[in-house]
Amino acid sequence: MLEIQNQVQLQAFNSLKLSAIASHYCKIYSHSDLIAALAFADQSQLNCVILSGGSNVLLPEQLNALVLHMQIQGISVVEETAESVIIDVAAGENWHQFVMYSTDKQWYGLQNLALIPGLVGASPVQNIGAYGVEVGEFIASVYVYDRFTQTFVHLMANECDFSYRNSIFKQNPTRYVIVSVRFKLYKTPSLKLAYGDLKTAVGEEKTAENLQQQVINIRRSKLPDPAQYPNAGSFFKNPIITSTQYQQLIVQFPNMPNYLQANGYVKVAAGWLIEQAGWKGRKHGVVGMFERQALVLVNYDQAGLHDVQQTYTLVQQAVQQQFAIWLEPEPVRFLDNGTIASYIDNS
Ligand code: EPU
Repeated sequence: MLEIQNQVQLQAFNSLKLSAIASHYCKIYSHSDLIAALAFADQSQLNCVILSGGSNVLLPEQLNALVLHMQIQGISVVEETAESVIIDVAAGENWHQFVMYSTDKQWYGLQNLALIPGLVGASPVQNIGAYGVEVGEFIASVYVYDRFTQTFVHLMANECDFSYRNSIFKQNPTRYVIVSVRFKLYKTPSLKLAYGDLKTAVGEEKTAENLQQQVINIRRSKLPDPAQYPNAGSFFKNPIITSTQYQQLIVQFPNMPNYLQANGYVKVAAGWLIEQAGWKGRKHGVVGMFERQALVLVNYDQAGLHDVQQTYTLVQQAVQQQFAIWLEPEPVRFLDNGTIASYIDNS
């Protein structure tokens, strides 16, 4: 039976630890809870906010909406051959634990994505990626409730429009609620070692288990533990610029890290831009950019959304001034009524 609570504090449910009171809140343990919650929101004329692990959201101090906190659990094998396996993983399963479980089972593919905070249901939304792998490469399909057609459907991977930190789910936030994700994993590992210093870290022991461990070590050495330093991972996307702009910048900044994209555009490292702009390890009030990875914004002491906005705007302005690049934040920012804010307004 669905229980709707009022005036619930969400501070413990978002990794930036922003204080945010939800006017209406419920935990979703099953498909029928989901249907009941959506019906309640319709009757009460409330917008819905789907809350997963809370590791990529910016919440307002007062959220006048129905928060659906996804808790659906379960992992099952759907199909298995000599080479591969398809596993259905419910939205409320913890991402890192699932990655560790898959490695223990000798199902390979996700090892580069170890230790990413959050839950499985959010992984397709921004197509989480790290160390040369994006999750979309290993997704067979995503099981969703389509609020437009009011049906549960499997969207095949090619229907999900996966690209860098983007998908159909990010583009249509009010349409789809992800209830489970089907991954296709392989019984023979094919190690992806191209990213940065990963190959050196893995060394001679070229196993998927060691790769996973090295990814964990690298993340621990660079990224702040949200339990100690509340944060939302990379705070900005790595910007993708035109080759013309890249040609101009590289003359001035020959050391600028850059990654050529398939379409001739060039991705540049936001962390490097921020460091060059003097913001690595710098704070404005209680919010600052982390000393070991300038791309991570940290709430050092009970910051609210307003403090976070002040700091990230200063960072955007500093980078804009030096490089003529406007950084786009990565977390999803909610307005007081539960709709999603556009960052374009800030530029
Ligand atoms: N760099 C600096 N100074 C910094 C940070 C980075 O000069 O303070 C330079 C590094 O030396 C390197 C380049 O920037 O040459 C890239 O840095 P890094 O390898 O640390 O990765 P990133 O581009 O900053 C991205 C993802 C991370 C992911 C890592 C590893 C985005 C927005 N972020 O970060 O994802 O873990 O690559 O693949 O694409 C996340 O999305 O929350 C996240 C942590």
